Amino acid sequence: MPSKQSYVDRDYLQRAGQLLAPIKRRSHELMSIQTGQRLLDLGCGPGIDTVILGQQVGPTGSVVGIDMDPEMVEAASTAARLADVGSWVSHRVDDAERPNLGPGQFDAARSERLFMHLAQPESALRAMIDATRSGGRVVVTDPDWGSLSIDCEERETERALARCRAEQGLPNGYSGRRLRAMFLAAGLRDVTVEGHAVVMTDYGLTRFITRMDAVEDLAVDTGRVSREQLSRWRHTLHAIAESGAFYGATTVVVAAGRVP
Ligand SMILES: C[S@@+](CC[C@H](N)C(=O)[O-])C[C@H]1O[C@@H](n2cnc3c(N)ncnc32)[C@H](O)[C@@H]1O
Repeated sequence: MPSKQSYVDRDYLQRAGQLLAPIKRRSHELMSIQTGQRLLDLGCGPGIDTVILGQQVGPTGSVVGIDMDPEMVEAASTAARLADVGSWVSHRVDDAERPNLGPGQFDAARSERLFMHLAQPESALRAMIDATRSGGRVVVTDPDWGSLSIDCEERETERALARCRAEQGLPNGYSGRRLRAMFLAAGLRDVTVEGHAVVMTDYGLTRFITRMDAVEDLAVDTGRVSREQLSRWRHTLHAIAESGAFYGATTVVVAAGRVP
């Protein structure tokens, strides 16, 4: 049975999906999707994108979503069934760094907010490229956590936490800013990058999206922030949130290229 935490996480993922909806739409546009195409979504989560892509390709096409978390795969499959696209949109558990995919089997491949979690994002990009036919589009969307800013007078703590998140809290916390160089090094053609500002005014959602609890603990454990600083930071942020004036923002990078 799924844990209560995973229900909470899925709800927050859905809300994060709504916040990111314009960027998702842009990433879909960059895939140049046509009816009947075969598409891949690596690190598909609860299927927000695979359902939309399934509606775009229609029953003559197919969409494969891959995620390492069985609960995400189950949620994605349920979402596809409920949206009546389940017979051509499938999901399965696999590791994005070495997925079991045939060469050139897709017309386009995407991934969103996955690369920051990967120790070897180059392997995932290589897998996407190898699984996409010549001329097909590869689109990767990931945040640049080095760009996170939160309005709070505890600026030293705010900067220390941002660095901790990007450098220790994730295997690849600067993923967004690295995409262009990765795409070029991988030999993709017609490479473009776009930076989209995501503004967050919901404190709870921001804590979830930025994994703030875990990052705060890590920052104290590694000596980047003292317990006193953390206590002031939390107190100040809580007061800002209570007043309704919370503001945070980060840049999400969308990189696109064409398989040679
Ligand atoms: C922030 S979520 C994004 C989900 C989805 N792409 C979206 O935009 O809604 C990141 C997803 O990557 C998955 N993930 C992390 N590491 C993975 C790996 N090595 N292989 C496959 N999936 C992975 C997680 O299970 C999670 O569902």
